[in-house]
Amino acid sequence: MSNPIEQVRDEALQTLEKAKDSKTLGDWRSKYLGRRGAVAKLFGEIGALPQAERAAFGRQVNALQSELNTAFEQREALIQSHALALDLEEGEIDISLPAHPRRRGGLHPSTRTHREFQAIWADMGFHVYQSRDVEEDDLNFTLLNLPPHHPARDMQDTFYTADSRVLLRTHTSPGQIRAMRDLGDGGSKPIRVILPGMCYRQEQITARSEIQFTQVEGLAIGRNIRMSDLKGTIAEFAKRMYNPKAKVRFRASYFPFTEPSMEVDVECFLCSGEGCRVCKYTGWLEIAGSGMVHPTVLRNGGYDPSEWSGFAFGMGPERITMLKHGIQDIRYFWSNDLRFLQQF
Ligand code: PHE
Repeated sequence: MSNPIEQVRDEALQTLEKAKDSKTLGDWRSKYLGRRGAVAKLFGEIGALPQAERAAFGRQVNALQSELNTAFEQREALIQSHALALDLEEGEIDISLPAHPRRRGGLHPSTRTHREFQAIWADMGFHVYQSRDVEEDDLNFTLLNLPPHHPARDMQDTFYTADSRVLLRTHTSPGQIRAMRDLGDGGSKPIRVILPGMCYRQEQITARSEIQFTQVEGLAIGRNIRMSDLKGTIAEFAKRMYNPKAKVRFRASYFPFTEPSMEVDVECFLCSGEGCRVCKYTGWLEIAGSGMVHPTVLRNGGYDPSEWSGFAFGMGPERITMLKHGIQDIRYFWSNDLRFLQQF
Protein backbone atom coordinates (compact mmCIF):
# COMPACT_ATOMS: atom_id res chain seq x y z
CA MET A 1 0.00 0.00 0.00
CA SER A 2 1.45 3.39 -0.98
CA ASN A 3 2.04 6.00 1.72
CA PRO A 4 -1.24 7.90 2.40
CA ILE A 5 0.75 11.10 2.86
CA GLU A 6 2.27 10.74 -0.59
CA GLN A 7 -1.15 10.03 -2.03
CA VAL A 8 -2.63 13.21 -0.61
CA ARG A 9 0.39 15.20 -1.75
CA ASP A 10 0.25 13.96 -5.36
CA GLU A 11 -3.45 14.42 -5.71
CA ALA A 12 -3.40 17.88 -4.11
CA LEU A 13 -0.59 19.22 -6.25
CA GLN A 14 -2.11 17.87 -9.43
CA THR A 15 -5.51 19.44 -8.84
CA LEU A 16 -3.92 22.71 -7.76
CA GLU A 17 -2.30 22.96 -11.19
CA LYS A 18 -5.74 22.93 -12.72
CA ALA A 19 -7.21 25.67 -10.51
CA LYS A 20 -7.73 28.69 -12.75
CA ASP A 21 -9.92 30.99 -10.64
CA SER A 22 -10.27 32.01 -7.03
CA LYS A 23 -13.46 30.00 -6.58
CA THR A 24 -11.77 26.67 -7.52
CA LEU A 25 -8.78 27.76 -5.46
CA GLY A 26 -10.96 28.36 -2.42
CA ASP A 27 -12.60 24.96 -2.81
CA TRP A 28 -9.18 23.36 -3.12
CA ARG A 29 -8.01 25.03 0.05
CA SER A 30 -10.91 23.76 2.13
CA LYS A 31 -10.63 20.29 0.60
CA TYR A 32 -6.97 19.87 1.56
CA LEU A 33 -6.11 22.48 4.18
CA GLY A 34 -9.48 23.18 5.75
CA ARG A 35 -10.61 22.16 9.22
CA ARG A 36 -12.10 18.94 7.87
CA GLY A 37 -9.67 18.67 4.95
CA ALA A 38 -7.34 15.88 3.95
CA VAL A 39 -4.36 17.17 5.96
CA ALA A 40 -6.47 17.54 9.09
CA LYS A 41 -7.65 14.00 8.55
CA LEU A 42 -4.03 12.77 8.42
CA PHE A 43 -3.30 14.55 11.69
CA GLY A 44 -6.29 12.76 13.15
CA GLU A 45 -4.92 9.41 12.22
CA ILE A 46 -1.75 9.86 14.31
CA GLY A 47 -3.44 8.66 17.47
CA ALA A 48 -4.33 5.33 15.90
CA LEU A 49 -0.71 4.52 14.97
CA PRO A 50 1.63 2.40 17.04
CA GLN A 51 3.58 4.55 19.47
CA ALA A 52 6.87 4.11 17.57
CA GLU A 53 5.57 5.47 14.28
CA ARG A 54 3.73 8.53 15.57
CA ALA A 55 6.61 11.03 15.67
CA ALA A 56 7.84 10.31 12.16
CA PHE A 57 4.33 10.36 10.71
CA GLY A 58 3.60 13.64 12.47
CA ARG A 59 6.71 15.26 11.04
CA GLN A 60 5.75 14.17 7.52
CA VAL A 61 2.23 15.54 7.83
CA ASN A 62 3.65 18.83 9.12
CA ALA A 63 5.97 19.01 6.13
CA LEU A 64 3.08 18.24 3.79
CA GLN A 65 1.00 20.98 5.36
CA SER A 66 3.62 23.65 4.84
CA GLU A 67 4.38 22.45 1.33
CA LEU A 68 0.71 22.69 0.38
CA ASN A 69 0.39 26.10 2.04
CA THR A 70 3.28 27.45 0.01
CA ALA A 71 1.93 25.92 -3.19
CA PHE A 72 -1.45 27.48 -2.48
CA GLU A 73 0.00 30.96 -1.95
CA GLN A 74 2.01 30.78 -5.15
CA ARG A 75 -0.99 29.63 -7.13
CA GLU A 76 -3.14 32.34 -5.57
CA ALA A 77 -0.68 35.08 -6.55
CA LEU A 78 -0.50 33.72 -10.07
CA ILE A 79 -4.27 33.59 -10.45
CA GLN A 80 -4.73 37.10 -9.11
CA SER A 81 -2.19 38.58 -11.46
CA HIS A 82 -3.78 36.80 -14.37
CA ALA A 83 -7.36 37.38 -13.37
CA LEU A 84 -7.70 40.88 -14.75
CA ALA A 85 -5.83 40.12 -17.96
CA LEU A 86 -7.87 36.98 -18.39
CA ASP A 87 -11.17 38.69 -17.71
CA LEU A 88 -10.36 41.43 -20.16
CA GLU A 89 -9.27 38.92 -22.78
CA GLU A 90 -12.38 36.85 -22.38
CA GLY A 91 -14.54 39.96 -22.28
CA GLU A 92 -16.18 39.11 -18.98
CA ILE A 93 -16.05 42.68 -17.74
CA ASP A 94 -18.01 45.12 -19.84
CA ILE A 95 -16.63 48.39 -18.63
CA SER A 96 -19.22 50.29 -20.66
CA LEU A 97 -22.07 49.00 -18.47
CA PRO A 98 -23.59 51.63 -16.16
CA ALA A 99 -22.57 51.40 -12.53
CA HIS A 100 -25.06 50.62 -9.77
CA PRO A 101 -27.59 53.44 -9.62
CA ARG A 102 -27.06 55.77 -6.68
CA ARG A 103 -29.94 57.22 -4.74
CA ARG A 104 -29.78 60.97 -4.99
CA GLY A 105 -31.29 63.42 -2.59
CA GLY A 106 -33.28 66.42 -3.74
CA LEU A 107 -34.21 69.82 -2.47
CA HIS A 108 -37.33 70.10 -0.36
CA PRO A 109 -40.11 71.87 -2.27
CA SER A 110 -40.15 74.66 0.32
CA THR A 111 -36.39 75.11 0.01
CA ARG A 112 -36.84 75.49 -3.74
CA THR A 113 -39.45 78.21 -3.31
CA HIS A 114 -37.25 79.96 -0.73
CA ARG A 115 -34.32 79.94 -3.12
CA GLU A 116 -36.47 81.40 -5.87
CA PHE A 117 -37.69 84.11 -3.48
CA GLN A 118 -34.19 84.89 -2.32
CA ALA A 119 -32.80 85.17 -5.84
CA ILE A 120 -35.54 87.59 -6.85
CA TRP A 121 -35.29 89.74 -3.73
CA ALA A 122 -31.48 89.75 -3.94
CA ASP A 123 -31.78 91.06 -7.49
CA MET A 124 -33.98 93.84 -6.16
CA GLY A 125 -31.39 94.82 -3.54
CA PHE A 126 -32.64 92.95 -0.47
CA HIS A 127 -30.15 91.18 1.81
CA VAL A 128 -31.09 88.03 3.70
CA TYR A 129 -31.19 88.66 7.44
CA GLN A 130 -31.34 85.52 9.59
CA SER A 131 -33.33 86.07 12.73
CA ARG A 132 -34.04 83.42 15.38
CA ASP A 133 -36.71 80.73 15.84
CA VAL A 134 -36.69 80.93 19.65
CA GLU A 135 -37.79 84.45 20.43
CA GLU A 136 -38.64 86.72 23.32
CA ASP A 137 -42.28 87.45 23.96
CA ASP A 138 -41.41 91.16 23.86
CA LEU A 139 -40.12 90.99 20.31
CA ASN A 140 -42.76 88.62 19.02
CA PHE A 141 -45.61 90.74 20.40
CA THR A 142 -45.05 93.73 22.66
CA LEU A 143 -42.52 95.65 20.57
CA LEU A 144 -44.65 94.96 17.48
CA ASN A 145 -47.41 96.98 19.03
CA LEU A 146 -49.24 94.02 20.54
CA PRO A 147 -49.06 94.78 24.29
CA PRO A 148 -50.05 92.03 26.76
CA HIS A 149 -53.86 91.79 26.71
CA HIS A 150 -54.11 93.37 23.26
CA PRO A 151 -57.01 91.52 21.63
CA ALA A 152 -54.92 90.86 18.51
CA ARG A 153 -52.74 88.46 20.52
CA ASP A 154 -55.58 86.00 20.28
CA MET A 155 -54.95 85.83 16.56
CA GLN A 156 -52.01 83.54 17.22
CA ASP A 157 -51.87 80.70 19.67
CA THR A 158 -48.34 80.30 20.79
CA PHE A 159 -45.82 77.66 21.92
CA TYR A 160 -44.17 79.03 25.05
CA THR A 161 -41.07 77.54 26.67
CA ALA A 162 -40.91 76.79 30.40
CA ASP A 163 -39.98 80.46 30.73
CA SER A 164 -43.14 82.30 29.73
CA ARG A 165 -41.12 85.19 28.31
CA VAL A 166 -39.53 82.91 25.72
CA LEU A 167 -41.48 81.35 22.87
CA LEU A 168 -41.26 79.89 19.38
CA ARG A 169 -41.88 82.80 17.06
CA THR A 170 -45.36 82.81 15.58
CA HIS A 171 -44.29 84.89 12.59
CA THR A 172 -41.06 86.32 11.15
CA SER A 173 -42.04 89.88 12.11
CA PRO A 174 -39.98 90.01 15.37
CA GLY A 175 -36.99 89.88 13.00
CA GLN A 176 -38.00 93.42 11.95
CA ILE A 177 -37.06 94.72 15.39
CA ARG A 178 -33.83 92.71 15.44
CA ALA A 179 -32.84 93.88 11.95
CA MET A 180 -33.57 97.54 12.77
CA ARG A 181 -31.59 97.39 16.02
CA ASP A 182 -28.77 95.38 14.48
CA LEU A 183 -28.35 97.10 11.11
CA GLY A 184 -29.84 100.53 11.75
CA ASP A 185 -26.89 101.86 13.71
CA GLY A 186 -29.05 103.69 16.23
CA GLY A 187 -31.70 104.57 13.71
CA SER A 188 -29.36 106.28 11.27
CA LYS A 189 -29.09 103.87 8.36
CA PRO A 190 -31.54 102.67 5.71
CA ILE A 191 -32.35 98.95 5.57
CA ARG A 192 -33.49 96.58 2.87
CA VAL A 193 -33.75 92.97 4.00
CA ILE A 194 -35.80 89.82 3.72
CA LEU A 195 -36.08 87.51 6.72
CA PRO A 196 -36.89 83.92 5.82
CA GLY A 197 -37.53 81.20 8.37
CA MET A 198 -39.67 78.71 10.24
CA CYS A 199 -42.62 79.86 12.34
CA TYR A 200 -44.70 77.94 14.87
CA ARG A 201 -48.28 78.13 16.01
CA GLN A 202 -50.15 75.93 18.38
CA GLU A 203 -52.98 74.95 16.12
CA GLN A 204 -55.10 71.99 15.26
CA ILE A 205 -53.20 70.26 12.45
CA THR A 206 -55.39 69.95 9.38
CA ALA A 207 -54.96 69.82 5.63
CA ARG A 208 -54.85 73.62 5.68
CA SER A 209 -52.95 74.44 8.86
CA GLU A 210 -49.76 73.11 10.37
CA ILE A 211 -48.02 73.87 13.66
CA GLN A 212 -44.92 74.80 11.68
CA PHE A 213 -44.56 76.64 8.39
CA THR A 214 -42.16 79.09 6.82
CA GLN A 215 -42.51 82.77 6.10
CA VAL A 216 -40.50 85.32 4.24
CA GLU A 217 -40.64 88.72 5.87
CA GLY A 218 -39.55 91.83 4.01
CA LEU A 219 -38.48 95.15 5.50
CA ALA A 220 -37.39 98.41 3.91
CA ILE A 221 -36.56 101.46 6.03
CA GLY A 222 -35.55 104.82 4.59
CA ARG A 223 -36.04 108.56 4.77
CA ASN A 224 -38.54 108.76 2.01
CA ILE A 225 -40.36 105.47 1.72
CA ARG A 226 -43.99 105.72 0.75
CA MET A 227 -46.86 103.39 0.10
CA SER A 228 -46.23 103.64 -3.63
CA ASP A 229 -42.79 102.09 -2.99
CA LEU A 230 -44.42 99.15 -1.25
CA LYS A 231 -46.92 98.68 -4.05
CA GLY A 232 -44.34 99.00 -6.82
CA THR A 233 -41.88 96.67 -5.11
CA ILE A 234 -44.43 93.93 -4.49
CA ALA A 235 -45.83 94.27 -8.00
CA GLU A 236 -42.33 93.88 -9.39
CA PHE A 237 -41.75 90.79 -7.25
CA ALA A 238 -45.01 89.25 -8.49
CA LYS A 239 -44.01 89.84 -12.11
CA ARG A 240 -40.68 88.12 -11.56
CA MET A 241 -42.08 85.29 -9.46
CA TYR A 242 -45.29 84.44 -11.33
CA ASN A 243 -45.35 85.97 -14.77
CA PRO A 244 -44.25 89.21 -16.42
CA LYS A 245 -47.84 90.30 -16.89
CA ALA A 246 -49.07 89.36 -13.41
CA LYS A 247 -51.50 91.89 -11.99
CA VAL A 248 -51.61 92.59 -8.26
CA ARG A 249 -54.23 94.22 -6.10
CA PHE A 250 -54.14 95.56 -2.56
CA ARG A 251 -57.00 95.20 -0.09
CA ALA A 252 -57.24 97.14 3.16
CA SER A 253 -56.52 94.93 6.16
CA TYR A 254 -55.28 95.12 9.74
CA PHE A 255 -52.00 94.23 11.42
CA PRO A 256 -51.02 95.93 14.70
CA PHE A 257 -47.45 96.54 13.46
CA THR A 258 -48.32 98.26 10.17
CA GLU A 259 -50.46 101.29 9.42
CA PRO A 260 -52.04 101.30 6.97
CA SER A 261 -52.12 97.55 6.40
CA MET A 262 -52.94 95.71 3.20
CA GLU A 263 -53.43 92.19 1.98
CA VAL A 264 -51.81 91.55 -1.42
CA ASP A 265 -53.47 89.43 -4.10
CA VAL A 266 -51.93 88.35 -7.38
CA GLU A 267 -53.96 87.43 -10.42
CA CYS A 268 -54.43 83.64 -10.34
CA PHE A 269 -51.48 82.17 -12.23
CA LEU A 270 -53.36 78.99 -13.03
CA CYS A 271 -56.32 80.53 -14.86
CA SER A 272 -54.91 84.03 -15.58
CA GLY A 273 -57.80 85.58 -13.72
CA GLU A 274 -60.53 83.69 -15.56
CA GLY A 275 -61.62 81.93 -12.37
CA CYS A 276 -60.87 78.32 -11.43
CA ARG A 277 -61.10 75.89 -8.52
CA VAL A 278 -57.76 76.96 -7.06
CA CYS A 279 -58.68 80.66 -6.83
CA LYS A 280 -62.23 79.67 -5.87
CA TYR A 281 -63.49 81.43 -9.01
CA THR A 282 -62.32 84.83 -7.79
CA GLY A 283 -59.42 85.13 -10.26
CA TRP A 284 -57.13 86.21 -7.39
CA LEU A 285 -54.71 84.49 -4.98
CA GLU A 286 -53.65 85.99 -1.69
CA ILE A 287 -49.83 86.11 -1.47
CA ALA A 288 -48.88 88.49 1.33
CA GLY A 289 -49.76 90.64 4.31
CA SER A 290 -48.13 94.04 4.17
CA GLY A 291 -48.19 97.65 5.22
CA MET A 292 -46.27 100.75 6.25
CA VAL A 293 -44.21 100.13 9.39
CA HIS A 294 -46.14 101.48 12.38
CA PRO A 295 -44.48 104.53 14.03
CA THR A 296 -44.35 102.67 17.36
CA VAL A 297 -42.47 99.80 15.71
CA LEU A 298 -40.04 102.24 14.06
CA ARG A 299 -39.40 103.80 17.46
CA ASN A 300 -38.87 100.37 19.03
CA GLY A 301 -36.32 99.65 16.34
CA GLY A 302 -34.44 102.85 17.19
CA TYR A 303 -35.74 105.11 14.41
CA ASP A 304 -37.38 108.50 14.70
CA PRO A 305 -40.72 108.14 12.87
CA SER A 306 -40.81 111.87 12.05
CA GLU A 307 -37.78 111.35 9.81
CA TRP A 308 -37.88 107.68 8.86
CA SER A 309 -40.53 105.47 7.34
CA GLY A 310 -40.68 102.01 5.89
CA PHE A 311 -42.74 99.17 4.57
CA ALA A 312 -42.96 95.51 5.57
CA PHE A 313 -44.56 92.40 4.19
CA GLY A 314 -44.89 88.73 5.06
CA MET A 315 -45.34 85.91 2.58
CA GLY A 316 -46.07 82.19 2.97
CA PRO A 317 -43.94 80.05 0.66
CA GLU A 318 -45.80 76.80 1.44
CA ARG A 319 -49.07 78.26 0.27
CA ILE A 320 -47.48 79.38 -2.96
CA THR A 321 -45.83 75.97 -3.46
CA MET A 322 -49.18 74.28 -2.86
CA LEU A 323 -50.92 76.45 -5.41
CA LYS A 324 -48.18 75.96 -7.96
CA HIS A 325 -48.07 72.16 -7.72
CA GLY A 326 -51.69 71.48 -6.83
CA ILE A 327 -50.72 70.08 -3.41
CA GLN A 328 -53.93 69.54 -1.46
CA ASP A 329 -52.58 69.00 2.04
CA ILE A 330 -50.05 71.14 3.92
CA ARG A 331 -49.20 68.21 6.23
CA TYR A 332 -47.10 66.65 3.46
CA PHE A 333 -44.44 69.35 3.86
CA TRP A 334 -43.04 68.28 7.21
CA SER A 335 -44.08 64.64 7.44
CA ASN A 336 -40.91 63.53 5.63
CA ASP A 337 -42.70 61.10 3.37
CA LEU A 338 -40.24 60.24 0.59
CA ARG A 339 -43.07 59.44 -1.81
CA PHE A 340 -44.09 63.10 -1.58
CA LEU A 341 -40.60 64.61 -1.52
CA GLN A 342 -39.29 62.58 -4.46
CA GLN A 343 -41.78 64.19 -6.80
CA PHE A 344 -39.83 67.43 -6.81
N1 PHE B 1 -46.69 88.79 10.36
C1 PHE B 1 -47.90 88.79 9.59
C2 PHE B 1 -48.53 87.40 9.68
O1 PHE B 1 -47.90 86.49 10.16
C3 PHE B 1 -47.65 89.14 8.15
C4 PHE B 1 -47.17 90.56 7.96
C5 PHE B 1 -45.81 90.83 7.92
C6 PHE B 1 -48.07 91.59 7.76
C7 PHE B 1 -45.35 92.14 7.73
C8 PHE B 1 -47.62 92.89 7.57
C9 PHE B 1 -46.29 93.16 7.55
O2 PHE B 1 -49.65 87.19 9.25
